[in-house]
Amino acid sequence: MLKYQRFRDFLFKFDAENIHNLAENFLAHFANKPIIQDVLLKKFYYQDSMLYCRVCGIPFNNPIGLAAGFDKNATMLEGLATLGFGFLELGTITKLPQSGNPKPRLFRHIEEKSIQNAMGFNNDGADAIKERLKNSYPFCLPIGINFGKNKQTKQEDALSDYEKLLQEFLTLGDYYVFNLSSPNTLNLRNLQNESFVGELFNMARTYTDKPLFLKIAPDISTDSMLQVCKKAIDTGASGIIATNTTLDYSVVKNPKDIGGISGVALRQKSSEVFKILAQNFFKETTLIAVGGISNAMDAYERILHGASLVQVYTGFIFEGPSICKNINQELTTLLKADGFSNIKEAIGANL
Ligand SMILES: Cc1cc2nc3c(=O)[nH]c(=O)nc-3n(C[C@H](O)[C@H](O)[C@H](O)COP(=O)(O)O)c2cc1C
Repeated sequence: MLKYQRFRDFLFKFDAENIHNLAENFLAHFANKPIIQDVLLKKFYYQDSMLYCRVCGIPFNNPIGLAAGFDKNATMLEGLATLGFGFLELGTITKLPQSGNPKPRLFRHIEEKSIQNAMGFNNDGADAIKERLKNSYPFCLPIGINFGKNKQTKQEDALSDYEKLLQEFLTLGDYYVFNLSSPNTLNLRNLQNESFVGELFNMARTYTDKPLFLKIAPDISTDSMLQVCKKAIDTGASGIIATNTTLDYSVVKNPKDIGGISGVALRQKSSEVFKILAQNFFKETTLIAVGGISNAMDAYERILHGASLVQVYTGFIFEGPSICKNINQELTTLLKADGFSNIKEAIGANL
């Protein structure tokens, strides 16, 4: 860990997006070579049958997933699998390729172990990513695919974007996520309303029985959030992923004026939103927690409050490649200490 911290401090001297691209190059082109894979697996992979759990019918060897946004283009699957993730969520993918917002658009808040990003769904688009994914899917880990609408797509055509995306990837994912919560596509969050969400899941259910999730923002009012999530569940959603980044800039000392904040600064807000969701919907649906999770206690707290799975993004940047191993190892200790023999028993135990 100390070694990674030193390396990280060095990397943090450079532009955040350039370092992301460097990491992507390593994970896409080197970490997939058998000899390097062996080394990485030995160092970072951890397995314990206590952590095995079926969620929505899918088997997960451990509950720690990579959140959307890190592997937007499905280029790093094999490299990421060597780092011990229990599942990977790819995307956000849009129908057409797009370059995203102007740079710089990715910033670190080092003291707060947080990130602010205004990426704007930069991705290679459905056709190219689909071709790439065909070579890897089915994969050794569950694969989620996260969909968004193109910047140029009018609000009234958004449903059609999500429909086409789902059609394109019907045979290439284990679960799908409708992302209506990125703050970096103008008016996307306005689609978090009952009418659109109802149409979205009614449409999606005509195509597939696979798990379908809604990913929500931490910034909507509790009433709206509960109404929208209820509508999603009633019209076919298998679950809710909470939360995306926040637009509440008071959580960091020196915010930029664009983009959403993730990481430790988001933890409390995301956790509060998650708890409200769980109090209302735990018995009815499947919940995936994301937002400021960087260690086993963070993960365990959300699991006890109803998360069947958790995801990390910013924690991965700050804690490094051993984050999954560290969380999973410590999770087994926490589960045993509380008398659980499998993670399933802990899910929602505090509700
Ligand atoms: C640089 C960056 C890009 C992201 N891109 C996406 C995205 O494309 N789609 C999405 O649903 N979430 C995206 N997110 C949000 C994360 O998936 C996650 O919900 C959020 O960062 C909170 O988790 P964290 O605190 O562990 O980072 C992005 C986050 C970051 C930091």
